[in-house]
Amino acid sequence: MAKMEVKTSLLDNMIGVGDMVLLEPLDEDSFINNLKKRFDHSEVYTYIGSVVISINPYRSLPIYTPEKVEEYRNRNFYELSPHIFALSDEAYRSLRDQDKDQCILITGESGAGKTEASKLVMSYVAAVCGKGAEVNQVKEQLLQSNPVLEAFGNAKTVRNDNSSRFGKYMDIEFDFKGDPLGGVISNYLLEKSRVVKQPRGERNFHIFYQILSGASEDFLCKLKLERDFSRYNYLGLDSAKVNGVDDAANFRTVRNAMQIVGFMDHETQSVFEVVAAVLKLGNIEFKPESRVNGLDESKIKDKNELKEICELTGIDQSVLERAFSFRTVEAKQEKVSTTLNVAQAYYARDALAKNLYSRLFSWLVTRINESIKAQTKVRKKVMGVLDIYGFEIFEDNSFEQFIINYCNEKLQQIFIELTLKEEQEEYIREGIEWTHIEYFNNAIICDLIENNQTGILAMLDEECLRPGTVTDDTFLEKLNQVCATHQHFESRMSKCSRFLNDTSLPHSCFRIQHYAGKVMYQVEGFVDKNNDLLYRDLSQAMWKASHSLIKALFPEGNPAKINLKRPPTAGSQFKASVATLMKNLQTKNPNYIRCIKPNDKKAAHIFNDALVCHQVRYLGLLENVRVRRAGYAFRQAYEPCLERYKMLCKQTWPHWRGPARAGVEVLFNELEIPEEEFSFGRSKIFIRNPRTLFKLEDLRKQRLEDLATLIEKIYRGWKCRTRFLLMKKSQIVIASWYRRYAQQKKYQKIKSSAIIVQSYIRGWKARKLLRELKHQKRCNEAATIIAAYWHGTQARRELRRLKEEARNKHAIAVIWAYWLGYKVRREYRKFFRANAGRKIYEFTLQRLMQKYFLEMKNKMPSLSPIDKNWPARPYLFLDSTHKELKRIFHLWRCKKYRDQFTDQQKLIYEEKLEASELFKDKKALYPASVGQPFQGAYLEISKNPKYKKLKDAVDEKIIIAEVVNKINRANGKATSRIFLLTKNNVLLADQKSGNIKSEVPLGDVTKVSMSSQNDGFFAVHLKEGSGAAGKGDFLLSSDHLIEMATKLYRTTLSQTKQKLNIEISDEFLVQFRQDKVCVKFIQGSQKNGNIPTCKRKNNRLLEVAVP
Ligand SMILES: Nc1ncnc2c1ncn2[C@@H]1O[C@H](COP(=O)(O)OP(=O)(O)OP(=O)(O)O)[C@@H](O)[C@H]1O
Ligand SMILES: [Mg+2]
Repeated sequence: MAKMEVKTSLLDNMIGVGDMVLLEPLDEDSFINNLKKRFDHSEVYTYIGSVVISINPYRSLPIYTPEKVEEYRNRNFYELSPHIFALSDEAYRSLRDQDKDQCILITGESGAGKTEASKLVMSYVAAVCGKGAEVNQVKEQLLQSNPVLEAFGNAKTVRNDNSSRFGKYMDIEFDFKGDPLGGVISNYLLEKSRVVKQPRGERNFHIFYQILSGASEDFLCKLKLERDFSRYNYLGLDSAKVNGVDDAANFRTVRNAMQIVGFMDHETQSVFEVVAAVLKLGNIEFKPESRVNGLDESKIKDKNELKEICELTGIDQSVLERAFSFRTVEAKQEKVSTTLNVAQAYYARDALAKNLYSRLFSWLVTRINESIKAQTKVRKKVMGVLDIYGFEIFEDNSFEQFIINYCNEKLQQIFIELTLKEEQEEYIREGIEWTHIEYFNNAIICDLIENNQTGILAMLDEECLRPGTVTDDTFLEKLNQVCATHQHFESRMSKCSRFLNDTSLPHSCFRIQHYAGKVMYQVEGFVDKNNDLLYRDLSQAMWKASHSLIKALFPEGNPAKINLKRPPTAGSQFKASVATLMKNLQTKNPNYIRCIKPNDKKAAHIFNDALVCHQVRYLGLLENVRVRRAGYAFRQAYEPCLERYKMLCKQTWPHWRGPARAGVEVLFNELEIPEEEFSFGRSKIFIRNPRTLFKLEDLRKQRLEDLATLIEKIYRGWKCRTRFLLMKKSQIVIASWYRRYAQQKKYQKIKSSAIIVQSYIRGWKARKLLRELKHQKRCNEAATIIAAYWHGTQARRELRRLKEEARNKHAIAVIWAYWLGYKVRREYRKFFRANAGRKIYEFTLQRLMQKYFLEMKNKMPSLSPIDKNWPARPYLFLDSTHKELKRIFHLWRCKKYRDQFTDQQKLIYEEKLEASELFKDKKALYPASVGQPFQGAYLEISKNPKYKKLKDAVDEKIIIAEVVNKINRANGKATSRIFLLTKNNVLLADQKSGNIKSEVPLGDVTKVSMSSQNDGFFAVHLKEGSGAAGKGDFLLSSDHLIEMATKLYRTTLSQTKQKLNIEISDEFLVQFRQDKVCVKFIQGSQKNGNIPTCKRKNNRLLEVAVP
């Protein structure tokens, strides 16, 4: 939000009147009272139009803070209460924005606050102008030039502890943007007499005290100085210390400032050496010495000080000593040397000290200028600040006061000229009729002083140049002659008899009626001071110094540049520089600060009416107000005027739509202000009398109260209405939010339903689409298949055709070949013998056979009978040969294999072969038996003594001796029996005792039955009616069933020449005594592991469970 601009005015909360132009009635008393009233309220600034009157508060006021700077920045001059910042801002802005060079003229008597005011102006401008590293450095250098110049050019006087003893004008230069570029300082007339002598209660220039208090022991030693003030004749002792001033600290400040301004270390050093030399010069004393020619001659009392000065400055001691004792006058070709008496020697010494110091001061200004000068050649805007001594009226006024007051006369003149000019210009600009203004023009006084023929300064110069005896009295006489008739010149000795009896005017004085009052001047010293004589011997001695700064300070001492012409007098020099200054100021827009000192005690809160009255008079402030008020007391642009008073008239309140001037006209008519009281300018209204303005102000005040009530009323109404509107708005917001919420819910419901419907439809559509796509795909596939079949048919047909073609071609080729063969044979038959073909055939056959056998030799498979490999047949016609050869080779390698066996082994293999023929692929037990060698005698009957009886009973060779299980016919349980097979019999014997239980001749064994399964059961069937058959057939079980059955078969065959019947069946009948029992083999559970179990089921059935 844009910051609301609050329009304020100087007229707001005014104490007394802020602008003296508004003073009513205008007289000295009311003027002083107004100042006093404001001063008592700490309002130290008051305006006279655009001139600022500043009263020294002698205390620090909180009105120079950065906040204040901001407050006054870019505000109109009359917008805020009077302030030096308002003037500075106005000057800076018209410099920056309107391209008008400015000058700020600060005047007032000593101690009135001129220097402080000039610093305030500079610091304000520094604060508001541009920023940046370079700009800040320029600012800093400009600001830091002040402490340096103050240290060398200011001193404590009875009027001011920090009195400027020189006039200063500083041009600050800006670029087109208003950023500072640099500056130029001009100095006017340093009060150099102070170097050698100070009035009671005053001090020499600050720098002397600062060096002695602040320099280090080391530095002092270098400068050949001692810290004790009392050691130096030039230092006034009675007030060496100033209350509240720390010389030592100030010394550091000065050195720092010199550094910032840009002084090199060696330059600073040189400056302090010169200062030390000046101080020490004061200690040189002379004594009279009579010479032979009877004249008095001065001699230096103690040469020690002289020696030190010479060491410090690099001057030949004898040269300086001579310069203090002799004076050489050169006229044309002649050179006359005269001795100096003691008084002259002191005069020469003091003149040297004064010159040295004042030239040093001027050099400092030049050096500072060098540092702060603008670096660019672009066009510059300039703001000049003039801090010059004010009008001085002392009891004893001398040449200096005369010069100073002359300067102030000139300034007053320029003030009058410019103010009136400005006033007049404004009237013309505004189209207001110009009325003549009565005022005092001090041009006549200026003329009295500066007129080239009859002016006082011209007289003085004439006197100084005149040959013969010239004294101050002869000068006064001359004045009395020439100026006697001037109405502002008063002298007792003049021809004019008016003052002959005026005892207040001593004979040695003359009086001038300055614009600010009468001043009486003592003529004593006028001539000398104007001459400002330094003996040439001294300047030459100085030039001879090896100290470069001192040498540079006295260029006229150079004998090569000897100039017999007298140097310009102090008066004429000053006149010239004042003339330049005036010319300079005339080109600029002036801004005035008039400083007033409220009391003589340098104390706060004391307002000495008489003292202020005196200053008001000589500053011509009333005059100032009168000039300003000559036509109209108050003027204001139409806009701010209308803005301020528009509430006083219905037509202009609250808004005036037309031009501001018309608004003001309406306003003034409405208020019935008499016509002679105001005048309408082009852009401003001019009010003749302050009364009218105050009447307007009173009316405004009353109206503002009414308006305040109105505003309050409206504000309350507005506040309630705003609250109501806000509530209404809130209600709408809440309702809208609720509606939104409800609609949102409804919408979501509809949306989800829609999505479901949509999804169904989409599903249905998708399925439809899928069906169509599938159908389409099937059609495509069918078409492809049909196409493939058709293509296949086509291809096959083509293939057939091609084959047919190929066959035909082949047939043709064969037929053709045969036919060709036939043809060839028929053709060539006559060339062959009848059996050549056969021979070739046989030979070829032979060769092929040979090759075949040779190859076969290399490709023979291994000798293993089970090796099935046999090389492939190479030729079809050898097919039967190849097979035969394979058979023969196999038989041969079998034979080879068999030939390796012993008889024993042969027997075993025979048995194994027998077993194979009997059981292979018939009995499941067989494959397990192939790997087991047939041992026959598993029991060692002959060796075991247990079976001795059994051995004895059997005398034949035992073929099988083995333990078998005999199955009990009644319950199927097994009992162990020894089974023996001999050549003729089968025997069963008790395993423990070896007693023979049964003996069956082999001829009685008719059959052996067994299952096809993996069990060891077998039945031995006996011939019916035989001796052994009484108990029935044997049902046995053995682990070596295959071996036993095979051996039984073989033995039976060899003994009886009959083949034993071996029945392999899972169900067979066994004869038990009278009954026939069926033995049935079933695949049973594995209750007893792998052992088959036998169980009698009933009379007719015995069941064997085979795992
Ligand atoms: N605005 C101010 N606020 C506070 N003190 C001030 C102000 N102006 C001046 N002073 C005090 O008054 C003293 C004298 O002021 P300043 O040196 O400016 O006088 P001057 O007019 O320059 O005198 P001179 O002509 O002797 O140089 C200052 O040292 C300071 O103590
Ligand atoms: Mg000053």
